[in-house]
Amino acid sequence: MFKSRIIGTGSSLPEKVVLNKDFEAIVDTSDAWIFERTGIRERRMASDGETSSTFAYRAALNALEMAGIAAGQLDMIIVGTVTPDMPMPSVACQIQKRLKASRAPAFDVSAGCTGFLYALSVADAFIKAGTHKKILVIGAETFSRFTDYQDRTTCVLFGDGAGAVVLAAEQGERGILSTHLHADGAYTGSLLIPGGGSLHPASYDSIEKRLHFLKMDGHKVFKVAVKYLEEAALSALKENNFTGDDIDLLISHQANVRIINAIAKRLKLPQEKVFLNIEKYGNTSSASVPIALDEANRQHRLKKNDLLLLEAFGAGFTWGSALIRW
Ligand code: ACO
Repeated sequence: MFKSRIIGTGSSLPEKVVLNKDFEAIVDTSDAWIFERTGIRERRMASDGETSSTFAYRAALNALEMAGIAAGQLDMIIVGTVTPDMPMPSVACQIQKRLKASRAPAFDVSAGCTGFLYALSVADAFIKAGTHKKILVIGAETFSRFTDYQDRTTCVLFGDGAGAVVLAAEQGERGILSTHLHADGAYTGSLLIPGGGSLHPASYDSIEKRLHFLKMDGHKVFKVAVKYLEEAALSALKENNFTGDDIDLLISHQANVRIINAIAKRLKLPQEKVFLNIEKYGNTSSASVPIALDEANRQHRLKKNDLLLLEAFGAGFTWGSALIRW
């Protein structure tokens, strides 16, 4: 029986930094409100010409370099994103082309901010099935292109970037122990980008109504996210006969520090077992978990055989978790 072990991580962030105080000039907000309510101090923003595939490609190169394998050895490429360069072809196919990973089938997964965990879970299933040996999984977003800079309730929250992992089929104790995916379509109206699809294709009307920008009922998302993330964490632990005490590091989706702290409190995790980088990047959606994982890895915070709990929540609603023996 094969396990999927992460043999390389990588990430890529735009160079352009946008501070909280930069928003004070364009909407009715303050650095203090944003930091106190979210934990965000700054975020990165794509420059002209940079897209989700720009960051995905750079993150992939970093992950492949750490893994020590050539792109030609990849059996599959999966990208979690809801802000692709264009509706088609997928970001994954653009990465496949740029990497010259000619053997690899490539596709995107759309699951809001949970996109990376959904993609990771799909990759893990292929590896466990024994049909694929090396899979590149990426989370990449350019939310600044879908953010309404007239809406103070959302524009301060998001940032751009990408994170990537290379999974390899291995036998042994280390690797992904289990993944847990959930969705509740009853909440499709609470977090969405209404325009740009077959319901509201681009038109003068869709632009005038600002339908191409993200809309979110933040308060509802917050309440449901805390409840469901807690459930996802507890069910992952229970299925593997662990308790919160066994976790060495929680690597959560970085949407709001208050959400992360609520989960940590429920799991009785001390602050040093909770990875945080929301302060620097804001909510990078599908890119959030793999960027955090890569940073934790490169900061040498992950030790061999550590137990990691990954989790995320996003549009759909979707949510999920993964337990990893590092
Ligand atoms: N600056 C100043 N005031 C603001 C701002 C702002 N940027 N944004 C909202 N406010 C105001 C509101 O208008 C409201 O004012 P009112 O009381 O006069 O009506 C007040 O602040 C409180 O608003 P709430 O929405 O109740 O504030 P809350 O504490 O819930 O924080 C936030 C809002 C940060 C959006 C929070 O709800 C949140 O983090 N939600 C979850 C987001 C999330 O997890 N998303 C995940 C997935 S994203 C994806 O899938 C793409």
